Amino acid sequence: MLNFALIGAGRIGKMHAEIINSNPGSRLKFVYDLNRNFAENIANSLNAIAVDKPEEAINSKETDAVLIASATPTHIEFIKMAANASKPVLCEKPIDLDIDKVNRCREDLKNIKSPIQIGFNRRFDLSHSKAQQARLNKEIGELEMIIISSRDPAAPGLDYLNACGGFFRDTTIHDFDLSRFILGDDPIIQVSAFGENLFDKNVKTVKDFDTAMFILKSASGVLIHINNSRRAVYGYDQRVEVFGSKGMVISNNQTQSSIERYTSSSTSSKELIHFFFIERYQQAYSDQLNSFIDTINANSRPKVTFEDGRRALIIANAAYESYEKKKIVEINYE
Ligand SMILES: NC(=O)c1ccc[n+]([C@@H]2O[C@H](COP(=O)([O-])OP(=O)(O)OC[C@H]3O[C@@H](n4cnc5c(N)ncnc54)[C@H](O)[C@@H]3O)[C@@H](O)[C@H]2O)c1
Repeated sequence: MLNFALIGAGRIGKMHAEIINSNPGSRLKFVYDLNRNFAENIANSLNAIAVDKPEEAINSKETDAVLIASATPTHIEFIKMAANASKPVLCEKPIDLDIDKVNRCREDLKNIKSPIQIGFNRRFDLSHSKAQQARLNKEIGELEMIIISSRDPAAPGLDYLNACGGFFRDTTIHDFDLSRFILGDDPIIQVSAFGENLFDKNVKTVKDFDTAMFILKSASGVLIHINNSRRAVYGYDQRVEVFGSKGMVISNNQTQSSIERYTSSSTSSKELIHFFFIERYQQAYSDQLNSFIDTINANSRPKVTFEDGRRALIIANAAYESYEKKKIVEINYE
């Protein structure tokens, strides 16, 4: 049984806390958040201890692993604190918004042996990972195209938008990572990006995009299309199409149940798809934690590494450059 310290008790921290306590291999021991009330709410409901300082949670002899779910600009500080205390880390995406900080962190931690896993949960989704398997085992022949539609039901509030680092680094970063996951050892080498503010006032206030499209290319010539929106009136739209010489696999949206209705006004109408990430990726978040626990217990390499987080951020940065310069950008991972 591994004791966890949770850093960050906001929207996704609360979800992780519940997943930790529902896993037979782990339990929540400490919770820290800048906002003491948030930490206390979670600690009180899950029989854990809210602490006043991150060191109390991370350095405690009773802590076996650390889950970081605080605001993005705080991740590196806590990754370093945990790694220097030899505690395995599962850290939410993105690692940070500043690639120089990420590179310095990589350098600082190069001799650290304890695992650092980054929270690209979509890799653990059963349907998406079956699509990746179909590419690996050549069920679809030679891979030619990947098409990802990824749209949120509604834009987050102004506070989140101000801290998140922009649409490409906050949201599309999942899709860049998912593309990398499907491509395997075939790196993405070019990106062209378009972004618009079409409908959301808060997004406009922070000069961000609510609508975006990307075309990317891998070293072997696979073409990838990603489209994102911060608003889909029908729910959290998550579709992945993997197309090759011998066919195609689609990881499709999932409805809340499999019921279909046939009436005088419609044929085969289905229930709504899941509302947002916590509902849609419930299984993926649980399996992400299972995988992290397995990594710790087997003393093995995490399934999603710090380098995966670094590379996804490099692609996001190249996408911003493409948007700003209105040109296709070559991606350099050095
Ligand atoms: N993998 C996913 O699907 C997914 C989904 C949503 C969010 N995220 C990521 O999770 C992180 C948190 O997102 P959220 O939606 O829960 O945001 P949130 O704003 O709801 O929660 C962030 C929490 O961090 C706390 N915090 C801020 N500064 C802190 C500090 N210095 N020390 C401790 N706590 C601090 C805040 O008080 C807040 O409770 C972000 O990095 C985000 O990108 C990942």
